[in-house]
Amino acid sequence: MAEIWCVASGKGGVGKTFAATGLGISLAKLRKKVLLVDFDISGANLHTVLGLRDFKNSILDGLNSSATGKDMIMSSGFSNLDFIPGFIVPQLGQELCTFKVDALLQQLQTLKYDVIIFDLGPGAQKANFSLMNYADRNFVITNCEPTSIEKTYSFIEQYIATEGRTKTLHILVNFCRSQQHQTLGKSFESVLFKKHDVNIRFSAGIRFDNAVWQSTFMTSSNMQNVFALMPYSEVCHDFYKICKQLIDPSELRAVS
Ligand SMILES: Nc1ncnc2c1ncn2[C@@H]1O[C@H](COP(=O)(O)OP(=O)(O)O)[C@@H](O)[C@H]1O
Ligand SMILES: [Mg+2]
Repeated sequence: MAEIWCVASGKGGVGKTFAATGLGISLAKLRKKVLLVDFDISGANLHTVLGLRDFKNSILDGLNSSATGKDMIMSSGFSNLDFIPGFIVPQLGQELCTFKVDALLQQLQTLKYDVIIFDLGPGAQKANFSLMNYADRNFVITNCEPTSIEKTYSFIEQYIATEGRTKTLHILVNFCRSQQHQTLGKSFESVLFKKHDVNIRFSAGIRFDNAVWQSTFMTSSNMQNVFALMPYSEVCHDFYKICKQLIDPSELRAVS
């Protein structure tokens, strides 16, 4: 069975799609077979980060018609990493029908992936919460600004209040520009852990890296992302380290 990982957030623009891509590419480098699924029902854009256009089917076809996993899956351009595009036309407020998601996931589980990653839309939407319930690991991503921290806190509180349970919740603090930012997630972990009987863990701080926007304007080729163009940059290293630690925690502890 593939592990399911979800990347969620209380606020838009904090780096969910970027993180889903970073986690996927890093796992693929670690020889895991990975499927990235764009489940942002507020407006899909993971295909743009991957530099992909021209797709026939999206996840909507898998949910609403008889399109199979194989009809929707395309190669991402990175080895070991496949991709299912999201809705081309934004379908704001659309509820996800859980029995359709069940059927689709059953099908995807036959395709022998090690990890399936869902890139979600922002905010405390019912659709996001139901997708998070399928996950073995949920990553909740925030940036370091008070507005994002506030929304992240409220997102997690609402998730726990609505769903009443959760598998491991990993906090990722993105756009870190200082050592203080790097440790911000620890406060999240301790406040939420004291209040709720759930498994909440601060997984990592991810550095703000100019290489991200530089890559976007570096070439006229489709693949304008930092993971393809500047794979040795700081931010790529951060994602690789997160994945390595999650896959084989003993190896990193032995080194440090
Ligand atoms: N660590 C980072 N350093 C620099 N730029 C980043 C970083 N993380 C994300 N970005 C940029 O921030 C913007 C928003 O990220 P995105 O993944 O689209 O957010 P979301 O999916 O949460 O709306 C994108 O332009 C992305 O390239
Ligand atoms: Mg996004």
